[in-house]
Amino acid sequence: MFSGFSLFPERASTMAGRVDALYFALIGISGFFSLLIAGLIVVFAIKFRRRTPAAIGAPIHGSTLLEVAWTGFPFLISMGVFVWGASVLFAMSRPPDETLNIYVVGKQRMWKFQHLDGQREINELHVPVGRPVKMIMTSEDVIHDFFVPAFRVKADVLPGRYTSVWFQPTKPGRYHLFCAEYCGTRHSGMIGEVVVMDPSDYQTWLSGGAPEGSLASTGAKLFADLACNTCHRPDAQGRGPVLEGLFGNTVTLQSGETRVVDEAYVRESILTPSATIAAGFQPIMPTFQGLVTEEQLLALVEYVKSLKALPQVQTR
Ligand code: CUA
Repeated sequence: MFSGFSLFPERASTMAGRVDALYFALIGISGFFSLLIAGLIVVFAIKFRRRTPAAIGAPIHGSTLLEVAWTGFPFLISMGVFVWGASVLFAMSRPPDETLNIYVVGKQRMWKFQHLDGQREINELHVPVGRPVKMIMTSEDVIHDFFVPAFRVKADVLPGRYTSVWFQPTKPGRYHLFCAEYCGTRHSGMIGEVVVMDPSDYQTWLSGGAPEGSLASTGAKLFADLACNTCHRPDAQGRGPVLEGLFGNTVTLQSGETRVVDEAYVRESILTPSATIAAGFQPIMPTFQGLVTEEQLLALVEYVKSLKALPQVQTR
């Protein structure tokens, strides 16, 4: 209904309708009470004005019923808004199981996107319509914020950490992408476009690029170039843990602490290996801090993710 109204962003994701319904309900409730209170102030000011200089109002002794009512109703309304808001937030923060994952690196002042098939984009992101897409995001410098109004998604992009956000586009088109966190001069220029395509067009687009192969294969090459493979060997004969089948598992560290192997864990293991020594191994791994870029880290993470458990332990 607001499509012709340019101040209101288009609704182009499965979440947009839910967010808007909550937004309009909040506006409606606030508007109703603002008008009610402002109106009553005017009405009472006129009705109970001092008509003669000697007039004194009758003393008021309170009303329990009235007090219970004006405490109870706002309480119920605010609890209703809370539960509703929490359910929307919950849905937004839990991506479906099967998502198309895309890595994002924010940088003063550009958005870099990395598809798993190997395509890389800057300030433009191509996604298929009707599929849940999960963005796994990090920053190369300062805090940025990934904001696509038409999808009603917004999430901070932090240096040294992975954050994620998901959306499912519902109609093809081109949508604005903004940085919604002030990140220095030209923050306002850190903008881009999300191009939502029909699945067939998307396939065509995918097959058009990626001369370097998939992200995992880039990671595999890097893994060899950095000589990671001299210690992390699939045959369990290396000086480091076997990485095959590791992603998603729980590991026990030397400190006795247990950690789930996720993107953040792999990243930490590469940058500060001493913090994540697995039980039974020596702290001999050097740090790769400053030696690998955020994008190379993502490729390594994706490579580790792609390593499936071996059918059996090979022996020599
Ligand atoms: Cu990046 Cu503002």
